[in-house]
Amino acid sequence: MRFFIDTANLEEIRRAKAYGLIDGVTTNPSLFAREKEDWRTLAQKICAEVEGPVSLEVVGLTAAEMVREARELVQFGPNVVVKIPMTMEGLAAVRELTGMGIDTNVTLVFSPLQALLAAKAGASYVSPFVGRVDDVGAEGMALVEQIVTIFTNYGFSTQTLVASVRSPMHILQSALLGADVATIPFNVLEKLASHPLTDKGLDAFLADWKKTPGAGA
Ligand code: E4P
Repeated sequence: MRFFIDTANLEEIRRAKAYGLIDGVTTNPSLFAREKEDWRTLAQKICAEVEGPVSLEVVGLTAAEMVREARELVQFGPNVVVKIPMTMEGLAAVRELTGMGIDTNVTLVFSPLQALLAAKAGASYVSPFVGRVDDVGAEGMALVEQIVTIFTNYGFSTQTLVASVRSPMHILQSALLGADVATIPFNVLEKLASHPLTDKGLDAFLADWKKTPGAGA
């Protein structure tokens, strides 16, 4: 299972990279809005910082606008994946971009049938937003399970990229379901590594070591 980091913050990307924890990056317009740097400059820096795929999202609403933006975005690096919203126009754009050999990530996926349509259009990735599904009282991980089943049933090469991750449980369940990728905010990435019994055990080992004859000499 691959881990992407869900951020446009270069510092977070560098820290996650230093831990050897990330295989790619996803961004969206809201994440860029939190940063101070011009988005084009920042997007190019992000693409240069990581070897893996970097999802950059279009903001046009027609297929023609999306394709035009995609042509600009792919100039930012060889690893750009163009993020396209799950609309009818978006599906038309995905089909055209796929024909051009451009990787796509269909975003804002909230139903298994949307994911099926995106896969049929040739999307490289689909992004079910599990946290936002949970927020409205439904079960985000059930959506992932259905998508994984459909893609397996028909042998689609489209990858399931679990998005809108809020907690380590989302990652555990994604791994158990066989999702291809999870895109994880930096704060959740940190939580994956931590366990109170690890901290307690380490404190005890270090305290005992101080009492050990010859240790620290
Ligand atoms: C996915 O690619 C999106 O950038 C992201 O996961 C959305 O998460 P949110 O629901 O926390 O905004």
